[in-house]
Amino acid sequence: MEQVKKVTLRHLLRMKRRSEKIVWVVLYDWPTAMLADQAGIDMILVGDSVAMTMLGLPTTLPITMDVMLHHAQAVVRGVKRAFVVGDMPFMSYVTAEDAIKNAGELLRVGCDAVKLEGGESVAPIVKAVVSAGIPVIGHLGLTPQSVSLLGGYHVQGRTADVALKILTDAQALEAAGAFGVLLENIPTEVAKTIAEQTSFLTFSIGGGPDTAGQLLLSHDVLGLTLGLKPVFAKSYANIAEQIKSAFQAYEHEVRSGQYP
Ligand code: KIV
Repeated sequence: MEQVKKVTLRHLLRMKRRSEKIVWVVLYDWPTAMLADQAGIDMILVGDSVAMTMLGLPTTLPITMDVMLHHAQAVVRGVKRAFVVGDMPFMSYVTAEDAIKNAGELLRVGCDAVKLEGGESVAPIVKAVVSAGIPVIGHLGLTPQSVSLLGGYHVQGRTADVALKILTDAQALEAAGAFGVLLENIPTEVAKTIAEQTSFLTFSIGGGPDTAGQLLLSHDVLGLTLGLKPVFAKSYANIAEQIKSAFQAYEHEVRSGQYP
């Protein structure tokens, strides 16, 4: 890992040129951000998946700018090195004016860039936000804010026409000035083709190994996922079990008089 004071877009682009994998994680709070930053994670996404992982909601749709700003501020306080991306919540980028204002608020609390879902249809919005001086990364494939339209959380791009649409969407995002795209839950070969046919940064969450970087939810990485865990997600710890046994030990000691 190259020692840099603060990860910037230039640094991320250099990593891609050198074929060094970029490591990205989704998290939502100050202590987790501090630990991920100290561990050398390159990028952090303050994701609207906070709805499901932290708030027990069934979808990301209820999340507002206020919720995102609340979590983004906490994350930014814990980060010295990582590049922080703030997620634009559902309905926060319907018009270019709204998008610029809301993206600006995420930058104002310390995010380095914003992420929004969609391809060709949001390209004019991406262009407007980038023109306002705000770095944008797109999000294609399984886009959770369109869960109703997609009919659930399924793999996208299995048919040739949908795969081609994802590719043209990625190209539209690049042409609009996005610095990269996140490809969620699409076949490996589709993600590989997009990585080959574009020159911006490509990231995969459930899209195989052929992109510049990888993203996972911290809850999956840590073994703290209490709801459904995607098949592609890998856990490197079982924090849920450790939390439960710590609470059980405390409960036992208080009841038995061992503590205090
Ligand atoms: O909010 C989020 O965590 C995301 C990921 C699912 C990619 O957008």
